[in-house]
Amino acid sequence: MKTSVFILLAIMLLFTGCNKGPSNGSENVYSVIPAPVSLKELPGKFTFTGKSKIIVSDLNEETGLSADFLASLVKNPTGWDLEVVSGNRASRGSVFMTLDSSISNDEGYVLSVTRPKIIVKAKTPAGLFYAVQTIRQLMQPEVEKDSLINGFRPSVPSCEITDEPRFAYRGMHLDVGRHLFPAETIKKYIDMIALQKMNTFHWHLTEDQGWRIEIKKYPKLTEVGAYRNETIVGRPRRGGPRVYDSTRYGGFYTQDEVRDIVAYAKSKFVTVIPEIEMPGHALAALASYPELSCTGGPFEVATRWGIFDDVYCAGKDNTFDFLEDVLTEVMDLFPSQFIHVGGDECPKTRWKQCPYCQKRIKDEGLKDENELQSYFIKRIEKFISSKGRRLIGWDEILEGGLPPEATVMSWRGVAGGIEAAKQDHDVIMTPTTYVYLDYYQCEPEGQPLAIGGYLPLEKVYSFDPEFDELTPEQQKHILGVQGNVWTEYIATPEHLEYMTYPRMIAISEIGWSPASLKDFEDFLARFSVERKRLDEMGINYFKGEYRDTRKGQSRQQ
Ligand code: ACM
Ligand code: ZN
Repeated sequence: MKTSVFILLAIMLLFTGCNKGPSNGSENVYSVIPAPVSLKELPGKFTFTGKSKIIVSDLNEETGLSADFLASLVKNPTGWDLEVVSGNRASRGSVFMTLDSSISNDEGYVLSVTRPKIIVKAKTPAGLFYAVQTIRQLMQPEVEKDSLINGFRPSVPSCEITDEPRFAYRGMHLDVGRHLFPAETIKKYIDMIALQKMNTFHWHLTEDQGWRIEIKKYPKLTEVGAYRNETIVGRPRRGGPRVYDSTRYGGFYTQDEVRDIVAYAKSKFVTVIPEIEMPGHALAALASYPELSCTGGPFEVATRWGIFDDVYCAGKDNTFDFLEDVLTEVMDLFPSQFIHVGGDECPKTRWKQCPYCQKRIKDEGLKDENELQSYFIKRIEKFISSKGRRLIGWDEILEGGLPPEATVMSWRGVAGGIEAAKQDHDVIMTPTTYVYLDYYQCEPEGQPLAIGGYLPLEKVYSFDPEFDELTPEQQKHILGVQGNVWTEYIATPEHLEYMTYPRMIAISEIGWSPASLKDFEDFLARFSVERKRLDEMGINYFKGEYRDTRKGQSRQQ
């Protein structure tokens, strides 16, 4: 996109103040993130009036979502209630949305903006929604804020856009086990996922430090497992003294709240994938039901971070009964095809000593405890697929063999994912080296405490989930990319936003835009426009050094 010149002009206008009158708002700018496949700039612009209609062919609940969304953007600064009507033809002064089966990609769209009208075509309602997100980014940022601006007229610069995503899976993860966030914050997170044309929210709901989802059959999970007695302060050196804050911490999401969030996400074409961790990271569950462990406990919900030896006992059948019951309630709440079962960081210490686990190894003819983990995941996979869903887990689930239907999230670099794709598993790429947003995003001095690492925006942006090691057929198994946000050191919504944006915005472009369009300088220029939108939305994004100042240094991760 030749956006830079226009962007520069717009920024100059903003800063010189010639365009600052409250009635006019900002200038329109051709600046879209993720970059569309093709954008042709045309002279002039479409300007909304109070009489503009949004005309939708096949108007129904799903197609209506995009029309209503656009109407709400126009309403924010103007107070106008644009009419959303069913109809088969574009008319002057209006927006026309229609489904078009000749468009090949399920999420693709074609957008034509001219002075008299806007025409949106897409194969599916999701494509219409993404077209509206593009229209949104072409409109003045003032449309984001619900406050009337006298004389303001929302407008869209004329253009022809043809667009579709590079990858089908574009996701963001959030750990609510270590710290949880209000439902409103989760919805704002989903809003950003939708704005960036991502389609998946991976909700990490259970951890050693807290169980966060109400399960009716096992009330102690939230009576006991949702609360820890205190939390470690800071990040002590290995073996160094540990200081705790003496403050009880916890909470959980009720099933009603979960249903509300899942429905909210659906209205923005975002699928929510729940994660129920097993066999490790299970201390909060074991504190609630110690009989599910190898030793019988007792246990406390963890108050420090790390990896714990006490995990679900793989030898006891009641562990599987419990997990199947939990997953049954979870699958009732989450209609997602994928159900995430964790599978990472499971020490085998207890299993080695446990008579139940050792009996299981013997009875099943397993070689060792690593094969016992594989047995565990395969057994759960059978249950999940018997319900018509698909198991997904962190890349450790590959060890010891895995049913072909299972999907792998490659987090320990990309090697696990490449190996999984070679074995014909579907893969989501979420490597620590590029998309772990709990890492420092610039030099750590002066920054809020983070888990470590160094992952500036430029490095995130440089990730390309296409691999020379894979044949074109194997490459098709790479379904997409996801950013992960672990929250040991992220306790507030403001800090969550600080760590997440703009790095998540770079991830959206990795997942959507053609590799041939990737250009970090152009991305930065477009982000300098999007910032204004985030300001209007009240997002506390990081405003420091975006470049990789360690590029070329050997210390770089
Ligand atoms: C992980 O970061 N332990 C998946
Ligand atoms: Zn055991």
